[in-house]
Amino acid sequence: MRTIIRNGTVATSADVFKADIQIINGVVTAISERIVPVEGDHVIEATDQYVFPGGIDVHTHLAFPGTVDDFESGTKAAASGGITSIINFTDPKKGQSVLDNLREWQEKAKPSFIDYGFHSIINECNERVLEEVPDLAEQGVTSIKLFMAYKDHLMVNDVEMYKLMKTAGEAGIITNVHAENGDVIDQLISDALSKGNTTPYFHASTRPCLLEAEATGRALAIAEAANAPVYIVHVSCAEALQQVEQAKKRGVQAYAETCPQYLVLDSSYLAKPFEESAKYVCSPPLRDKSNQTVLWNGLASGLISTVASDHSSIPFEGGKALGRDNFAKIPNGCPGIEDIFSLIYHFGVHEGRISLQKFVEITSSAPAKLFGLYPKKGTIAIGSDADLVVLDPRLSRVISKNTQSQSTDYNLYEGTKVQGVITYVLSRGEELVQEGRFLGKPGRGEFLHRKRFKKI
Ligand code: URP
Ligand code: ZN
Ligand code: ZN
Ligand code: ZN
Repeated sequence: MRTIIRNGTVATSADVFKADIQIINGVVTAISERIVPVEGDHVIEATDQYVFPGGIDVHTHLAFPGTVDDFESGTKAAASGGITSIINFTDPKKGQSVLDNLREWQEKAKPSFIDYGFHSIINECNERVLEEVPDLAEQGVTSIKLFMAYKDHLMVNDVEMYKLMKTAGEAGIITNVHAENGDVIDQLISDALSKGNTTPYFHASTRPCLLEAEATGRALAIAEAANAPVYIVHVSCAEALQQVEQAKKRGVQAYAETCPQYLVLDSSYLAKPFEESAKYVCSPPLRDKSNQTVLWNGLASGLISTVASDHSSIPFEGGKALGRDNFAKIPNGCPGIEDIFSLIYHFGVHEGRISLQKFVEITSSAPAKLFGLYPKKGTIAIGSDADLVVLDPRLSRVISKNTQSQSTDYNLYEGTKVQGVITYVLSRGEELVQEGRFLGKPGRGEFLHRKRFKKI
């Protein structure tokens, strides 16, 4: 069957133009001013609507311990919100083979509604791990993730980071880094608790911008020494971004990501009563509002390459509530896979902070290029997968937990009115959302065997 999306305003990272799009066997096969439908064609009417490449969310924690979204509910939420591919993290056990861990995650991901890949988290460095890392690329996993915080469970030290980045870089694997100085943060936390400072407000004050910037600068310097590409996840503040800017100027293969929560929310949410504030505990923490403009400008200028959700669906009851007497016991992380596309469209394009082309670049094209998916994903072009989102800019909606597919018992953006409503979502030509109704089938998503890193 042939599908034609008629008369939409097609947006790519380069152009915005009116066109019809022809889809055959899940792939875009023609883009032209007028494609005449014939009997038996499936026609989607997109007059006065935008047609975007599907969002690619490269920072998700589906099926993590303590979270309530697995690959089925999480990718349903993603698809409902315009995300057609994700790259999820794996969660390794110490001593386990990295490749065995990957196979476990490939099993967990099978119920997905949309296509998925993995970044392998590496939380130890020894001969076995260093031997296994290059094999990941053979398996289509061309990125790893390292943590500079969360001691004992995830954190690696500087020498380990150097060795892993170097080994990864030589194999065409880009290293994601969670950059916060975990050692000093742990000390600040115990100082705060010993003074009786136990509320979520102190989550922010014990993880200051200074210590995000310090770790960011260190990660970038180590990547430079290793001559390896590095991707700093969830950049939250001006000081950290400054480090990225300086490294880029030195020629480091450095890229930065930010998340909607840092663009839209701020640290005042952490000063609310526990029932509210605990929901907003993520790391790095929400920052002073002044950072928002810096981050938006970073996206507009290209200093920040991507936006991603960092979706961690920690429920309030049985999750966030565990830290009622001690903020350090609140599981870190924010749900956001369902609203990222809408929030960036509304606060970015609708409110005039970024262009339509930039919107496509940061939500789709740049993630696809950095993580080895382009041009199969990340654009609307002949031969590309028909992963498409039709959005009606004339309509608006109010974000609420009562209408979401995410499994959390709250939504961080409750009551926020966003301009732009998604009317259709196609994944490889299949309608997952049709006139706003969800039609997808679980298990149709495919593993994304990604290409090795190439500098962009
Ligand atoms: O607070 C966060 N971001 N939790 C998820 C894990 C991580 O650090 O990315
Ligand atoms: Zn992180
Ligand atoms: Zn994360
Ligand atoms: Zn408005």
